[in-house]
Amino acid sequence: MKKINLGQTNIKAPSIVVGCMRLNEKSKEEMNAFIHSALDMDLNFFDHADIYGGGQSESIFGEAIHDDTSIKREDLIIQSKCGIRSGYYDLSKKHIIKSVDESLARLHTDYLDILLLHRPDALVEPEEVAAAFDELMAAGKVRSFGVSNHKPMQIELLKKYVKQPLHINQMQLSIPVSNMIANGMEVNMDSAGSVDHDGSVLDYCRLNDITIQAWSPFQKANWRGVFLGDSEYKELNEEIDKLAGKYGVTATGIAAAWILRHPAGMQVVTGTASIDRLAGIVEGAKVELTREEWYKLYLAAGHILP
Ligand SMILES: NC(=O)c1ccc[n+]([C@@H]2O[C@H](COP(=O)([O-])OP(=O)(O)OC[C@H]3O[C@@H](n4cnc5c(N)ncnc54)[C@H](OP(=O)(O)O)[C@@H]3O)[C@@H](O)[C@H]2O)c1
Repeated sequence: MKKINLGQTNIKAPSIVVGCMRLNEKSKEEMNAFIHSALDMDLNFFDHADIYGGGQSESIFGEAIHDDTSIKREDLIIQSKCGIRSGYYDLSKKHIIKSVDESLARLHTDYLDILLLHRPDALVEPEEVAAAFDELMAAGKVRSFGVSNHKPMQIELLKKYVKQPLHINQMQLSIPVSNMIANGMEVNMDSAGSVDHDGSVLDYCRLNDITIQAWSPFQKANWRGVFLGDSEYKELNEEIDKLAGKYGVTATGIAAAWILRHPAGMQVVTGTASIDRLAGIVEGAKVELTREEWYKLYLAAGHILP
């Protein structure tokens, strides 16, 4: 498994992260088998959030590792997130600490390797975030921190008060949903891709050694489903299938390889509940697409080169 340097840490992390958002319906035994299969593939990085499955994703995961002495906590990298509540966002100190305590209880662990702020909260008071992070770190409950869906200036605002480095920014990215790449090329043009939706987050993260974790790597925009095999993306799927044939991997594997080919050194956060699909993604991660192949997929998804 390809490893990346995680943010400014010394951690060598797998480039494929096992996302747990959709795993809440597994039984404890199924989850245990899923975790073992992932570990067998050298995938030891698991992405959670307090809200996934209403807490059930963390609970089932925690139960699945709790009684299994063959799984050592120190061999796992467990990341969770907080800040989304029912009908509003909440990055207050009180909520951050309560959320982490509840995640730890559900996960049957004493610490999170990484805590992410799930979404920017319009009412955030960065001094409170700083106080929460200090308390969680001093108590040994969280070892490192990051954000998700944050713009550069929002990260800068947090950094004015937060002492700990922010190592990660988890953002939606797939071949079709790649405005963060498009607006870096359609500079000063009158085209859809020229619109900067994210404050140049890609360059900002590279400049500051913040690892981008690509969420929903196989999805279309706005939760409209998977682009793979979808007639809306006929040309893209034809190009993906050609490369899947050339490299002897799955179409999903090629879609992962496209993200990993970017020199920012990102991680792909998968959402599959299927071991076979995960194995295909792991094989795809070994493929190094050529520059021409990378651009061909980009253009086939409907992006332009000015
Ligand atoms: N930070 C955030 O705001 C945020 C938001 C959303 C998600 N996330 C994280 O990102 C992870 C991934 O998100 P996601 O689940 O939306 O991503 P995804 O990997 O793009 O989508 C996975 C879903 O697509 C299905 N699927 C159907 N055909 C597929 C194909 N050919 N290839 C791949 N998947 C196919 C999978 O079904 P099968 O199970 O049958 O394979 C699964 O239900 C989540 O688990 C979570 O950890 C973070």
